[in-house]
Amino acid sequence: MSHQPVEHLSPLEARIEWQKLADEIAAHDIRYHQKDAPTISDAEYDAMRRRYDALLVAFPELQKEASALTRVGAKPAEKFAKVKHAVPMLSLANTFSDEEVAEFVERVRRFLDWPDQKEIAFTAEPKIDGLSCSLRYENGVLKTAATRGDGEEGEDVTANVRTIRSIPEKLHGDVPAVIEIRGEIYMATDDFIALNERQEADGRPVFANPRNAAAGSLRQLDSSVTASRTLKFFAYAWGVIEGEMPSNTQSGMVDAFKRMGLPTNPLTKLCADVDEMVAHYRLIEEKRPTLGYDIDGVVYKVDDLALQQRLGFIARSPRWATARKFPAEQARTILLDIDIQVGRTGALTPVAKLQPINVGGVVVSNATLHNEDEIARKDVRIGDTVIVQRAGDVIPQIVAAVIEQRPAHAKPFQFPHQCPACGSHAVRETDPKTGEPESVRRCTAGLICPAQATERLKHFASRNAFDIEGLGDKQIEGFYADGLITRPRDIFTLEERDARSLKKLKDREGYGALSVAKLFDAIRQRKSVSLNRFIFALGIRHVGETTAKQLARHFGSIENLQQVAIKAGHDGEAAKAELTDIDGIGPIVAGSIVDFFGETHNLEELEALMQHVTPEPMEAVASASPVSGKTIVFTGSLERMTRDEAKAMAERLGAKVSGSVSKKTDLVVAGPGAGSKLEDARKNGVEVISEDEWFERVGGQSK
Ligand code: IVH
Repeated sequence: MSHQPVEHLSPLEARIEWQKLADEIAAHDIRYHQKDAPTISDAEYDAMRRRYDALLVAFPELQKEASALTRVGAKPAEKFAKVKHAVPMLSLANTFSDEEVAEFVERVRRFLDWPDQKEIAFTAEPKIDGLSCSLRYENGVLKTAATRGDGEEGEDVTANVRTIRSIPEKLHGDVPAVIEIRGEIYMATDDFIALNERQEADGRPVFANPRNAAAGSLRQLDSSVTASRTLKFFAYAWGVIEGEMPSNTQSGMVDAFKRMGLPTNPLTKLCADVDEMVAHYRLIEEKRPTLGYDIDGVVYKVDDLALQQRLGFIARSPRWATARKFPAEQARTILLDIDIQVGRTGALTPVAKLQPINVGGVVVSNATLHNEDEIARKDVRIGDTVIVQRAGDVIPQIVAAVIEQRPAHAKPFQFPHQCPACGSHAVRETDPKTGEPESVRRCTAGLICPAQATERLKHFASRNAFDIEGLGDKQIEGFYADGLITRPRDIFTLEERDARSLKKLKDREGYGALSVAKLFDAIRQRKSVSLNRFIFALGIRHVGETTAKQLARHFGSIENLQQVAIKAGHDGEAAKAELTDIDGIGPIVAGSIVDFFGETHNLEELEALMQHVTPEPMEAVASASPVSGKTIVFTGSLERMTRDEAKAMAERLGAKVSGSVSKKTDLVVAGPGAGSKLEDARKNGVEVISEDEWFERVGGQSK
């Protein structure tokens, strides 16, 4: 990709570059969407798309040809029915050293308030580098198989899974009436090599690694293609179980899976302490090259299922498990350039453009450089030979420059003080707490900056936010450039404005009556959207999907959230505490929520948006729970659970936990030594129960 500003190109140069980009993008689209085998990172793909779009804007005559290129931005070619996971499929937190494993064990012990002299057993097993799958057996017969998807909802791949020989159609022996077996589908190294040889012989693209090959083979609409590829499976977890639990330990469950006829990993071991856990990691690390399948670490899980249940989850990962990752793979290559990208919040992010290099089986041509301090600290210069590292799913990073190989002319990198998208000043704000400059330089133009405005709009319409089909990145950039959509509310007035306008959308290049009707329909459908998606779509800094869900659950409406945030902004201690009391929300997240609602233009936009959109409250987490929707205060010393555990349990049951008693409190759970809060409860006529009564009340619901 050329790095010349588009304004400097002649029409002919632009046409040549644009045509080349169009071909490349189309090829990457196919590799990504249809073959599950991307060869470049998302950031690099995005950069190509940006350049492509910039060329279109600067040379409108290219638009005509663009419409013929329907493949650019093609949707996935394959469509599977969706399957909702009754028990979400979670991910694992990572650890990277022996010390971190010891800290993990320590955290578990602390959470459970476990006596020092008493041991807690953990299982240790290889972390298979494949894709997870949930197999539902009813009365021992395989009924459905679903991919993980986003953890809440996956794709129905039953027909394809039935072609995997190691997955039994029928389970042996005594099996619960319903059992969802979870595990990893993977491709063995030999089968991967053989498949790539066949692909090459047939003139078809090869897969970058066994994981991509497994994913690409499983996600085939034609199951005879899956059948022609050898996939394998290891069972290591479960979802819904109706009927008797086969065991009350993790290791017992895996043994039971084996007896049922499912493949389980032979390197699964029960460890009594940290030393054994570390020793087993070393053993697996040693065996790694000869296993015959790819693994990327070791997974540790608390063995006792009752303890797993007490430990529960933080956001998307269980507190009772962690993945110890193998050290990152490294390689050397040349740093060709440093690109500055502008994000939704105006952050200028440097991206290293590398001479493409194979790092542990994946071709890398981009790496993150984080921020300008990092570039200065590492003194990486354009032209340098650099060490690139990939660790798990993390974006490739530059570890260091190889100083001995530095070209004589290489100069220290000058980080721009101007936004590359709009030319406005880019500054480093001072962190109010430390008084130090923040590490990130930001464009000061706010929504006037086209990069920020379009990035925010893209986020707003994106899949996990408003999910407006037909309003992808490219369309938003086009509508933005023409002034048709510059703020979120404009999306919802587009149809009405189009009706009044003489220049109809259907006459735009690349559009027709049908695609416009579809777009309007998709927009209309989103006039009602779940509150958590709505909150996530606002793009409040640090508010990701999980936090948005927590806010939605806690506040139940935008108005409530706004009221508390505004109060907190006016130094309302109670309002601030209400925010930071929510699990997972600390002072930084609370601060950015307060900042967001403190901006007049955000409030204006929100008000305008609410004229068109109705956010729907989220379903209660556990609507059947006797405490869902209630505000609970725990006080005094609890004996059967730690305070953290009590809070996590109550939240899991759909309750809100508060630190102080007021009229709004529904229930106080008091242990011995409860003081003023008990008084407050009596004064406010709030029901007070003991810890035992709490357990009686939530009974079997503590899951
Ligand atoms: S346990 C609730 N065990 O790693 C915990 N996961 O980073 C469920 N994985 O999505 C996961 N080998 O695809 C578990 N032995 C193993 C695993 C394993 C591979 C994958 C799985 C999961 C991801 C989490």
